[in-house]
Amino acid sequence: MAVTPLFLRNSPRTLWTQHSHHSRLPTTLTTTPKTSRSLSFNSTKMEASEITEEVTENVSVKKKIFVAGATGSTGKRIVEQLLAKGFAVKAGVRDLDKARTALLNDSPDLQIVKADVTEGSEKLAQVIGDDSEAVICATGFRPGWDLFAPWKVDNFGTVNLVEACRKLGVNRFILISSILVNGAAMGQILNPAYIFLNVFGLTLVAKLQAEKYIRKSGINYTIVRPGGLKNEPPTGNVVMETEDTLYEGSISRDQVAEVAVEALIHSESNYKVVEIVSRTDAPKRSYKDLFGSIKQR
Ligand SMILES: NC(=O)c1ccc[n+]([C@@H]2O[C@H](COP(=O)([O-])OP(=O)(O)OC[C@H]3O[C@@H](n4cnc5c(N)ncnc54)[C@H](OP(=O)(O)O)[C@@H]3O)[C@@H](O)[C@H]2O)c1
Repeated sequence: MAVTPLFLRNSPRTLWTQHSHHSRLPTTLTTTPKTSRSLSFNSTKMEASEITEEVTENVSVKKKIFVAGATGSTGKRIVEQLLAKGFAVKAGVRDLDKARTALLNDSPDLQIVKADVTEGSEKLAQVIGDDSEAVICATGFRPGWDLFAPWKVDNFGTVNLVEACRKLGVNRFILISSILVNGAAMGQILNPAYIFLNVFGLTLVAKLQAEKYIRKSGINYTIVRPGGLKNEPPTGNVVMETEDTLYEGSISRDQVAEVAVEALIHSESNYKVVEIVSRTDAPKRSYKDLFGSIKQR
């Protein structure tokens, strides 16, 4: 299925051409930085669970990741970090003009497309396209007059994205969710954060529904549940816990973006729900170690 990007930061290069050897990556994405490569071969290298980038006629074709909610405070950091780590990015946004100022990166590996997650899976499948290898969902409803917005965006919108992935055969999905989504089951029903967030259209309940859908979908997921989000740079190290464990704490959006991107790189994150906050007294651990310490359920 051909996708016509509505806005391309720079002139398209061979990078955007669909490859005859294109293959989905089911588990782990590994890229190497794009530099002038002297390699010239036509096949995707596959070893065990890793697939490296495809290199054709001296042009390295990077793995492309679709980011939903790319103009958001976390979404734009995810875009930046993906590009910095050597991925190509298809940034799904509602407002192309806003995206031009929010995403100042003029990398030729950044493609910006219009994608409203409430508009259904068919339309989303068209924009995600058959060139995206994975989807990262960093959407969140914008407060307004529509009381159903959390349900439409954080539940049905995410479900639409998962359905679009199933239609396309995209088998990797990273969701930015939240700690306390399962607060009722954790005995945290009186936690002020749980009450506060659910006052706004049952936000956490909506997110939990979407999580359940993803987990039943069969898609390879990593659900990232951060604590309270901060725009400031990190002041501590990432603490990662299993689902329904953390009920307080905060974390820099930079670190949330890092966790989302690292999840793509480390197969230890496959089919897992991780809760994250940042603590100044926590030891610095590798992501392999952090994801590896979380049990699959
Ligand atoms: N705030 C917290 O302390 C906290 C804590 C834990 C988890 N979270 C969750 O973490 C995630 C990221 O939070 P954030 O504060 O960084 O996000 P944010 O800045 O509020 O950004 C939300 C993004 O979602 C997009 N969006 C809204 N409705 C959409 C729709 N119908 N279709 C497509 N995109 C849509 C927005 O697009 P526009 O830019 O066009 O509006 C924006 O890009 C959210 O899911 C949030 O609920 C937040």
